[in-house]
Amino acid sequence: MRVLVTGGAGYIGAHTSRLLAQRGDFVIVIDDLVTGNRERIRGLPVIQFDIANGSASQLAELMREHRIEAVIHFAGQKQVAESVAKPAWYYEQNVGSVAQLLLAMESAGVAKLVFSSSAAVYGDASGAISESAPTTPINPYGATKLVGEQMITASSQAWPLRAASLRYFNVGGAGAPELGDTQALNLIPICFEQIAAGKPPLIFGDDYDTADGTCVRDYVHVSDVADAHLAVLDALPQAPGNTVLNIGTGVGTSVREMVDSILAVSGSDLPVEVLDRRAGDPAAVVGIVDGIHQLTGWRARYGVADIVESAWLSRQFFSAQSHEES
Ligand code: UFG
Repeated sequence: MRVLVTGGAGYIGAHTSRLLAQRGDFVIVIDDLVTGNRERIRGLPVIQFDIANGSASQLAELMREHRIEAVIHFAGQKQVAESVAKPAWYYEQNVGSVAQLLLAMESAGVAKLVFSSSAAVYGDASGAISESAPTTPINPYGATKLVGEQMITASSQAWPLRAASLRYFNVGGAGAPELGDTQALNLIPICFEQIAAGKPPLIFGDDYDTADGTCVRDYVHVSDVADAHLAVLDALPQAPGNTVLNIGTGVGTSVREMVDSILAVSGSDLPVEVLDRRAGDPAAVVGIVDGIHQLTGWRARYGVADIVESAWLSRQFFSAQSHEES
C-alpha cells in the first residue's frame, strides 16, 4: 500500500513507519520536525510540513503526486498539562490538523485513515473500559482527541471514508534504543530521571481503592502499538465508518509494581517516596481490548518487563549520545 504517515518522525509514528517500510509498503512521512526527529526514520522520505498551519490544497497535491492510498495520522500534541495551560493552541494543533487532513483526503480521493486517539477521551472513568464507555474528557488534550474522532465519524458518513480511531492506553518502551520517547513526561521517564539524579522515585498516592493502594494503568509496548496500526490498516475494508478501538493489553499494573520494576532494571536501591495524590488521576484505567482482537486478531505481545527494559536501554543510548556530544 502507498501510505502517508503524518508525524511519522515522532515516537509512535517512527515505530509504525519503520514497520510499514519493512513489510514493503511505500511510506512517505510528513512531519514539522519540531518534536519529531529525522534520525529515527533514516532512509525514508520525509517532507517537512506543518499540517495544522498548512493548506489542505497543498496536502491534497502531495497525496496526488505520491498516489497515496491511505493515511496514518499521528501528528499532534500530547502533553496533558500543556493542554491545560494552552488550550486554544491544542485545538488549533490537534483539531485543525484533522480538518486540513480530511479536506485534503476527500479532495485527493484518499479513503483510508487510521487516527491516533487516546484513552484520555474517557476522562476520569475508572476500571475496565470498553469503547462504549462514556466519553467525558477532563482536559483539553482529551477533548481535542474526541473532537478529532467526531470529525472523522461525520466525514465517514458524508463520503466513502473508512477510518479507525485508536484509543491508546499508557504507551511505553522502545522497539530500538534510538526510537525511545525523549520528550515523554510520564511515570517511566520521570522515575528514570529521579534515579539518575540520585533521588527517590515518587508515588502519587497509595490510598486508592486498588490492591496495593497505588493507581493501576494499562501499559502497552510501543512496538505492539505500531503493529496494531498495520493490522487495523489492513482491516479497514471490513470496517465501514469510523471504528473506535482501544489499544492496550487488558492487563493492569500498579504504580508500585512499575516503580519496583524500574528500580530493579536500573540496579538502584534508592527508597521510594509516597506523596499525596496527583489531581485528576483515576484509580484504575485498563482497556478492554476485545474489539481490535475481533477485527484483526491483534493482541499485545509484550509485557511490563519488556516495556521497562527497553525504555531503560533507550535512555542509556540517549545519555551516552549526549555525553559524546558534550
Ligand atoms: N505517577 C507517579 N509518579 C510519577 C509519575 C506518575 O506516581 O512520578 C503516577 C500517576 O499519578 C498515575 C500513573 O503514575 O497514577 C501514570 O501516570 P502517567 O502520567 O504516566 O500517565 P497517565 O495515566 O496519567 O496518562 C496517560 C498518558 C496520557 C493520557 C492518559 C489517559 O500519559 O497522555 O494516560 O489515557 F491522556
